[in-house]
Amino acid sequence: MAASDASRLKHAVLIGAGRMGSAMARGWLGDLAGAGISRLSVVELAPGDDVREAAASGHVALNPAPEPADLLILAIKPQSFGGSADALKAWVGPQTFVVSIMAGLTTAQISAALGCEKIARAMPNTPGAIGMGATGFALSEACDDDEAEMTSALLEPLGLVVGPLKESQMDAVTAVSGSGPAYVFLLVEALAAAGRAAGLHEADANALARETIIGAGALLSEFAEAPADMRQQVTSPGGTTAAALDVLMAPGGMPDLMRKAVEAAVKRGAELAKESEKKA
Ligand SMILES: NC(=O)c1ccc[n+]([C@@H]2O[C@H](COP(=O)([O-])OP(=O)(O)OC[C@H]3O[C@@H](n4cnc5c(N)ncnc54)[C@H](OP(=O)(O)O)[C@@H]3O)[C@@H](O)[C@H]2O)c1
Repeated sequence: MAASDASRLKHAVLIGAGRMGSAMARGWLGDLAGAGISRLSVVELAPGDDVREAAASGHVALNPAPEPADLLILAIKPQSFGGSADALKAWVGPQTFVVSIMAGLTTAQISAALGCEKIARAMPNTPGAIGMGATGFALSEACDDDEAEMTSALLEPLGLVVGPLKESQMDAVTAVSGSGPAYVFLLVEALAAAGRAAGLHEADANALARETIIGAGALLSEFAEAPADMRQQVTSPGGTTAAALDVLMAPGGMPDLMRKAVEAAVKRGAELAKESEKKA
């Protein structure tokens, strides 16, 4: 059965319609049934234009009185969660399935705070705000295939969805795709700086580096080939690209550095989880 079968459509309540929450709401409003939703409520004191217009036209209930929801989507900052948990319990009943995109909070922490058992924990990234993100998700033990299907449908407005994964893999998701956009921005910065060092004016180096990353990303999005194949296609033996790649791919070069960087992010994710367990 598809998620859009009428008997399976759910009352969804979105808590927090900031950058990520409103990106999801925009996507759901385009095809509520496709997202598995019969009616949508949004709890947000400062909603953006999309949500306000949807509320004015009756497609969204904005800040309604709480009642147990079928789906409760948490898109508030993790640091807001502790102070909001008691109020959020009014949205939770025995059947409520909670989907959280709050970075770093585990399904066990959410379960303990809200008293629910079926929980999805997702890690989106910043391009999700424009529908071009990559999100990994994990499910609590009480969930089954239905919850996996619902979670994918709810997260799809943010872009690619990967899961269900093991919850123990979420630190790796955070290190690869959650933090990944920062690595790419650094690549633009480093390429522009190298261009300036090679004799380009600052504005030209910045524009060339930026557009190169945008263009390479668009090629990846357009063609299904493996990135290694695409790299080889632009690398003539003995040519200029090969000379640069010899440096980047030497021991201690980009692949080794990236592995170390991701390892450091995974380690930090585990430390932060321990710190927040101690505080809870
Ligand atoms: N942005 C990203 O790239 C990214 C990446 C990965 C994960 N995430 C996760 O996604 C979540 C949302 O991020 P975001 O960038 O969309 O944050 P955001 O723009 O700050 O949006 C959160 C919204 O929720 C509101 N809010 C806070 N507590 C609330 C409550 N109890 N009830 C109703 N509304 C409440 C906030 O209002 P106030 O401003 O008044 O508090 C704000 O408007 C975070 O947990 C973050 O960890 C974001």
